[in-house]
Amino acid sequence: MSGLLINQPKYSWLKELGLSEDNPGVYNGTWGGSGEVVTSYCPANNEPIARVTQATLAEYEETVQKTKEAWKMWADIPAPKRGEIVRQIGDALRKKIKVLGSLVSLEMGKIYVEGVGEVQEYVDVCDYAVGLSRMIGGPILPSERPGHALIEQWNPVGLVGIITAFNFPVAVYGWNNAIALTCGNVCLWKGAPTTPLTSVAVTKIVAEVLEQNNLPGAICSMTCGGADIGTAMAKDERVDLLSFTGSTHVGKMVAMMVQERFGRKLLELGGNNAIIVFEDADLNLVVPSAVFASVGTAGQRCTTTRRLMLHESVHDTVVERIAKAYKQVRIGDPWDPSTLYGPLHTKQAVDQYLAAIEQAKQQGGTLVCGGKVMDRPGNYVEPTIITGLAHDAPIVHTETFVPILYVLKFKTEEEAFAWNNEVQQGLSSSIFTKDMGRVFRWLGPKGSDCGIVNVNIPTSGAEIGGAFGGEKHTGGGRESGSDSWKQYMRRSTCTINYSKDLPLAQGIKFE
Ligand code: UN1
Repeated sequence: MSGLLINQPKYSWLKELGLSEDNPGVYNGTWGGSGEVVTSYCPANNEPIARVTQATLAEYEETVQKTKEAWKMWADIPAPKRGEIVRQIGDALRKKIKVLGSLVSLEMGKIYVEGVGEVQEYVDVCDYAVGLSRMIGGPILPSERPGHALIEQWNPVGLVGIITAFNFPVAVYGWNNAIALTCGNVCLWKGAPTTPLTSVAVTKIVAEVLEQNNLPGAICSMTCGGADIGTAMAKDERVDLLSFTGSTHVGKMVAMMVQERFGRKLLELGGNNAIIVFEDADLNLVVPSAVFASVGTAGQRCTTTRRLMLHESVHDTVVERIAKAYKQVRIGDPWDPSTLYGPLHTKQAVDQYLAAIEQAKQQGGTLVCGGKVMDRPGNYVEPTIITGLAHDAPIVHTETFVPILYVLKFKTEEEAFAWNNEVQQGLSSSIFTKDMGRVFRWLGPKGSDCGIVNVNIPTSGAEIGGAFGGEKHTGGGRESGSDSWKQYMRRSTCTINYSKDLPLAQGIKFE
């Protein structure tokens, strides 16, 4: 059928990813899907790219069974050998990094370098997981009883369900997939319904590695779908850990369903991230940081800077410099290498953008720049700066997933730290200062309450080596580096008696 971008010569590279006009949206060792057919649209022009046939609930059921079956053999493979498979996945991604990054750009709407960047995150976390595959372990603890060993054993949880959002359709799956696999789990992925081609393309790359190694493809299953599949995963006792990335609103519903069955969950929800600029800040760092973190990905990262708190002594200068930088941001097709700023992902996001600007004005805000939908095809809006709002204005406390930056003026450190922490979310935060005392107060108990606490760098753009996630309404989960692997495993405390006596702990005599 004509009309699809995939049929135009300009987009023939999509076929290098194994995509065609109609794509199966289920993988469990074999490809299938007979549910609703969804068309994926390009946010830069709202033209249809190609179609994906989602999973039915019956296909979900079949996939869970196959995935559970695959676990039986995957869990028996030694961790370093599992790491070797993850290494091969990383290498397979390296070979396709440009073309996969281009697909992310075409389907999600982020600029090309950011599309490639998130494939790079998957590659990096694969490398990390390979090392981890020879390092996972628990301590041997001193037992108070003679002839007893007290050891900690870590085992995989089993089946990890992974629900990801549209804004990072590769990286967030990658963080979960690489670590979960190394830990000995199998994965079942549901990507966002608006980025199904990316889910299919990634799964094809992973599936090929599994198949080449004669492993069951169901180790990394995928069921494309909407809320019906997501709900099934949340309620399913066989999903041993559900990793969910998305809005706080949906995350709460998912969390309640998982809690209802005392299941495990790992939540990566919203952020309302602030940059705080003190009077001694290096403004040459502040300006590009604030622009990258608020305009980058068109404001659609969970780590996007939404609140810029400026000390009163630098407020006007910084606003002026940032507004000037905003006007120089090159807007265009996201896949054009010179573009810095692309479209919003959906038309609904454009409506949310307009509604937020209206509310900000009603609540006392002044538009410094932006504020309008752009007159060009696709979901383009002007990156926007709003000053003059109260730190606790309702709109300032709302995460709207669009490029609107609220600038607040503060007087004291105490006030700025308090404002940072007064929002419901607790994902990312940054200060700009040269004062070492302030740096350590910021990192300390009365400083930022976020999961990501930065100094002299933006709120977004975290490396994979650290644990990624946040507190409060951000959900509390940690993914990616550091000891996040523990979330994908269950811990057993094992006491082993190798003596001929039976001493009881706490000195209890029971005779
Ligand atoms: C997200 O927005 O869901 O720190 C993830 C960052 C990226 C990941 C963001 N490495 O901005």
